[in-house]
Amino acid sequence: MNGRVPHVVQYQGSKRNLAPQILQYMPRRFNRLYEPFSGMAAITIATACERRAMQYHINDLNAPIVRVLQEAIDSPRTLANNYAQVWEEQFQYEGGHVEHYNYIRERFNNGETSAENMLYLLARCVKGAVRYGQNGKFNQSPDKRRHGTNPRNILENVSAISTLLKGCVSFSALDYREIFDMAQPGDLVYMDPPYQGVTNAKDNRYFSGVEFEEFATAIEMLNQKGVDYLISYDGECGGKEYGEELPPDLNCTKILLNAGLSTQATLLGKRNVTYEALYISENLSHMVDSIPLQLTFMEAMA
Ligand SMILES: C[S@@+](CC[C@H](N)C(=O)[O-])C[C@H]1O[C@@H](n2cnc3c(N)ncnc32)[C@H](O)[C@@H]1O
Repeated sequence: MNGRVPHVVQYQGSKRNLAPQILQYMPRRFNRLYEPFSGMAAITIATACERRAMQYHINDLNAPIVRVLQEAIDSPRTLANNYAQVWEEQFQYEGGHVEHYNYIRERFNNGETSAENMLYLLARCVKGAVRYGQNGKFNQSPDKRRHGTNPRNILENVSAISTLLKGCVSFSALDYREIFDMAQPGDLVYMDPPYQGVTNAKDNRYFSGVEFEEFATAIEMLNQKGVDYLISYDGECGGKEYGEELPPDLNCTKILLNAGLSTQATLLGKRNVTYEALYISENLSHMVDSIPLQLTFMEAMA
């Protein structure tokens, strides 16, 4: 992958930094890339940079997230202009920029879920982490030290993404299983479901609405259809494993990707490397042999 891969805005769990490693396990050319848990679609964008797929499909259950990507690709100037209007308001807002964030968040929670409002909340919230309370309202706090990505950078990035993807991408905001139904042999499904550890530390069967057994069953259906896939799926840090293993009878190969030093551990004065697991479907497992530098699960745990 040469040059800088553009991204719309920060997004917690983005695979932007891991994209060069993940792409090594994809075929050189294939029909359509499905990204059912797209977030800000880092893997779709990186794959489009290398022109590996002919078509792309972006999906996320969170409709305003998909709206941001759709507008970024279909009408980048309109999105950047509308975002600039919301962004500039914060400097004139009577109560200051933090109060302005709270005001936009309230409008968003009252149904004004436009792409520019979602984009502004993502650009300004703590760690780009989308959080909803039990009442379904977006409740993430603003990062008080920052004003959010400058509209000029947004324009530059969304224009680059639009050039890459306009005319060859479709969008939906559905449950991931409906996307599995669409995929055919010759396509590739890249999955990055929510982290298992985040919401249900005590009960790993559920992770942000994705139930573990249901997920494994749905993957089995991809196996039966002969559809290739890659799954990013938790990992390990400092000898501690996160998340439940996918069942061995799915016949995937599991490798660990080096995701760099853990910020959490660094704050505590440790230098622990975080590894993120990548499960590779059986049909693609020959790709593993062609890549010299990789860590097996046992080596990372040693
Ligand atoms: C870890 S994030 C993906 C981040 C993404 N790889 C990126 O680079 O930005 C997981 C995403 O899955 C979405 N999600 C959660 N449950 C889902 C479901 N049942 N079907 C589809 N998407 C879902 C969340 O809204 C979230 O954006």
